[in-house]
Amino acid sequence: MGIHDEDLERVKAETDLAGIVSQYVALKKVGQRFSGLCPFHNEKTPSFSVNADEGFFYCFGCQKSGDAITFVREIEHLDFVGAVEWLANRLGIALRYTDSTDGANRKERQEISELLEKTADFYHQTLRTGKQAGKVRSYLRSRGFDSETVEQFRIGYAPDQWDALASHLGVAIEKLEAAGLGRPGQRGGAIDFFRDRVMFPVCDANGAVVGFGGRMLPDGQQPKYKNTPQTRLYDKSKVLYGLHWAKKQIVQADEIIVCEGYTDVIGCFRAGLDRAVATCGTALTDDHVKTMVRFAKRIVIAFDADGAGKAAADRFYDWEHQHNAEVFVAAIPEGADPGQLAEEDPAALTEAINSAEPFLSYRINRVLDRADLERVEGRARAAADTGAIIAEHPNEVVRDQYLVETAQKVRVDIEQMRRLIVKPSPQQQRSSAVQQDTAQPAKQVEPKPPPLVEVNLLRALIHQPDAITSLVLPAMFTDPIAAEAHRLVISDGWRDQINDFSQPVATLVGRLVVEEVDADPVELVSRALDAVIDRWHTEVRYDVNDIEQLRVHQPMVQWLAQRQEEMHSEQTRTAAVEAIVDWLRTQDSDKDSTS
Ligand code: UTP
Ligand code: MN
Repeated sequence: MGIHDEDLERVKAETDLAGIVSQYVALKKVGQRFSGLCPFHNEKTPSFSVNADEGFFYCFGCQKSGDAITFVREIEHLDFVGAVEWLANRLGIALRYTDSTDGANRKERQEISELLEKTADFYHQTLRTGKQAGKVRSYLRSRGFDSETVEQFRIGYAPDQWDALASHLGVAIEKLEAAGLGRPGQRGGAIDFFRDRVMFPVCDANGAVVGFGGRMLPDGQQPKYKNTPQTRLYDKSKVLYGLHWAKKQIVQADEIIVCEGYTDVIGCFRAGLDRAVATCGTALTDDHVKTMVRFAKRIVIAFDADGAGKAAADRFYDWEHQHNAEVFVAAIPEGADPGQLAEEDPAALTEAINSAEPFLSYRINRVLDRADLERVEGRARAAADTGAIIAEHPNEVVRDQYLVETAQKVRVDIEQMRRLIVKPSPQQQRSSAVQQDTAQPAKQVEPKPPPLVEVNLLRALIHQPDAITSLVLPAMFTDPIAAEAHRLVISDGWRDQINDFSQPVATLVGRLVVEEVDADPVELVSRALDAVIDRWHTEVRYDVNDIEQLRVHQPMVQWLAQRQEEMHSEQTRTAAVEAIVDWLRTQDSDKDSTS
């Protein structure tokens, strides 16, 4: 996915960084530089500095730095190519792509994008002024959606006809289909995908329409919601409704509220909680979480009453661990959803969001709410149920803290309660029947387990060494146990030497040997590389304190960003991974030669 070097150079040369920055921040000329309040962190005195001649910015407060492309990437949350396109668009430069299929792809996406934009306008205009839309306008009014809300969220109406949109757009059926807006009918004409529905346009993080959710009217045809099918632009497992409108506030609050539905997001905004998003007709996925943590680490789940309670707990814990997120849950009253609550009692919604609890605590409290703690049986039941919930948490320190608190609440002896939550894993059971009797369980603080990326990498290395041994380097392991395990599993005949290694290493490797690999090993390497690159960025940012030095690093930062992007798309993954590994090798030898 490359842009022609020449075009890239032209964009860089013609971009006026100070002009771009001043769209976001008021800049003042100070000597040779411009200075202003940093848009990337909160501050009262300006420490953000722009060197217009060099086309380079630097913040003395948060150490963010880079050129115009970096600035646009960060502030608009775009990828590298997206940022270059954003700048090129402003400069009126037509970009050429290095790969002609790439160019064609981009062009097709562009066409789909334009169709979707026109469609959003068409639906919106139809709702505002269309004759047939009177009933829809009164339906929306009855739900408390005033015209301001309709404007703000570009809500629309898809007319109750077979081909209102198709004939409005007048393009080939294939194009309609590619955009997820229509399909061929039996008589050869086109049939609109959405008919007689209230339309919610779904945008990407940059505000471009990628699809729609269409809600039926009270007496309309089931299903309640129809969503755009998978297209080149619309992937329901990735897209988050509302992100574009909410992103600034999300970053500012370092908190993102995630709901189940379109109307929940709108309700949250109306209640002043303008940092809400929703998935579009699907459960929360790993990709959603990946996107969310780019904007904020604290995720507040605001699902319909007890929606979160029913969610798979291990996924939530996994996300907290893997993406360094904190998952909180807002208690939405029985029988309600955030949208409804916003309408009926906005203060209660705000209160529910503000008093969101950590996921584990939320689950325990729901059990306690229902428990009958007056009777012995009720307390025993509550102890068993909360014990089972606590036992699921992967971190022993966390488990122990909740154990102490909960034992008190259910008035059960702490040692008894402890026995309920200490469920040795099957491996432990096998390896030591003796240990169980002398168990000094939760007291003992376990060492922090190695990061999942590193464990996954080791597992793949053990099971598919031919595929990735040459791609795995010591620098990918930050955890001492994982690092030692790596040394072990790349040595000859290691399977016979497992027991010569330290206990934690032997235990880890012993476990991984019997597990299965459930992902493409090269993809696992790519995730490890993401972490390596993150660490490198941090190092560069904090080690280097003069702006000239940072500028020197800039080409590398960009090169890495491009490779990183390629690494995340299947077709280009292997080559990109190899390139980054080569770079990492030279990094390592640089260090060796200087130290
Ligand atoms: P809900 O049934 O809770 O609807 O579905 P809602 O969003 O609260 O809408 P209102 O307020 O009743 O009008 C929550 C979400 O689940 C998806 C939609 O994304 C919806 O917003 N969904 C629901 C579907 O995709 N298809 C359906 O048939 C129903
Ligand atoms: Mn709902």
